[in-house]
Amino acid sequence: MANGFKLSNLLSQPDFVVGVATSSFQIEGGAEFREPCIWDTFCKKPGAIKDASDGLFACDHYSRWHEDIALVDELGFDAYRFSVSWPRIMCADGSINQAGLDFYISILDELKRRNLKAFVTLYHWELPQYIEDQGGWLNRDTAQAFAIYTDVVSSAFGQRVDTYTTLNEPFCSAYLGYETGIHAPGKKGAQYGKKAAHNLLLAHGLSMQVLARNVPKIRRGIVLNFTPFYASSEDSQAQHAAEVAHDHFNDWYLRPVLQGEYPELLNRLPQNERPDIEPGDMQIIAQPLDYLGVNYYTRSFVVSDEQHEFKILPPPDKAPVTAMNWEIFPDALRKLLLKLNNDYNLPPLYITENGMASDDKVHQGEVKDELRVAYLRDHMQAVAQAMEAGVDIRGYFVWSLLDNFEWAEGYLKRFGIVHVDFNTQQRLPKQSALLLSTWLLQRNK
Ligand code: FCB
Repeated sequence: MANGFKLSNLLSQPDFVVGVATSSFQIEGGAEFREPCIWDTFCKKPGAIKDASDGLFACDHYSRWHEDIALVDELGFDAYRFSVSWPRIMCADGSINQAGLDFYISILDELKRRNLKAFVTLYHWELPQYIEDQGGWLNRDTAQAFAIYTDVVSSAFGQRVDTYTTLNEPFCSAYLGYETGIHAPGKKGAQYGKKAAHNLLLAHGLSMQVLARNVPKIRRGIVLNFTPFYASSEDSQAQHAAEVAHDHFNDWYLRPVLQGEYPELLNRLPQNERPDIEPGDMQIIAQPLDYLGVNYYTRSFVVSDEQHEFKILPPPDKAPVTAMNWEIFPDALRKLLLKLNNDYNLPPLYITENGMASDDKVHQGEVKDELRVAYLRDHMQAVAQAMEAGVDIRGYFVWSLLDNFEWAEGYLKRFGIVHVDFNTQQRLPKQSALLLSTWLLQRNK
């Protein structure tokens, strides 16, 4: 990487894992070999996806997985984080799609052959449409269905997996999917978000129990996304706004999972916005975690006004931003890690996603994504600093291996360290991938 980049503290930990992440819907395609999911339906809704695209073909990873995994290996990574598509495994009639299981087993075997660690996510937002038709995450039964799917997958995969993640970013599934409606299934209403979140957390707890039974030796946990909130001014109202935002977006997921309770905010919510908590739920949710995955991209400023206890502001003028208009602020990651470590008795952490979108262009056979190089370097530095300060962090994953289907943004936002030409499906490692690779391969010597 660039000059002066001291990763010695990351490297001195012999088992520190450096990996790269993807998710099924965003890269696989191969839609004709699975059941439809909520994102297939959502993509058909006029205006839902910026470029009116869909995930039917995506990066055609379904037929190119071999080449893609070879790339992960050749670039020098230790691990590959990917997700299993629920609708590729469980059919609407209750039967199991063996071809779907075999697809992932081939990937797992190839990873093993190449000595790459498999970090498997069971749910990265792809709810089968037939389950959404029964109410989706607003229906408690969905949590049970997820436990059954976990059982099928973990029985079939056996010992091939290094680390299981039950859910990726339940905040996004619940809030973006059922409250603001900007993600699938596109339901809108303050009364839905926290109900969906509760059923997701319940699904996590039940899935953890199944994993503990089926594959007790395999590491298991959950991946949460964190947005550190900063008060826009010194005044106490703004400070309060930042705390409330933290409770809604971050702590709402972390506290139940680690401590079996929701933040105190629960008692201040209007009755119709509260989750339906049944006796025993919180104990199920708080299964002991072997690790916690932290996804970090940006921070946000908040204010409060007459109508809102908190209001999220766009990035300040002149702040450096990514193509998503997300502020680039690595020190918020360091502070976040210290805060989590201070507030909780944490299991070991992995940074399971970090990266940025930029307007990358191929020029004479190269993609010079200098901004991404700096972004990754500075965020890895922040991780190293947090480790130095005593936080137990075991790994770091770049989001993402490939440019891919970025949800409501379609293919307009490129997060990959490998460029994808969506007409030819040609993969081209960007400068960031090549620099990371130089460093990783040196390390392995
Ligand atoms: C995260 C998602 C991932 C990707 C990145 C940019 O919230 O987990 O799928 O879209 O954002």
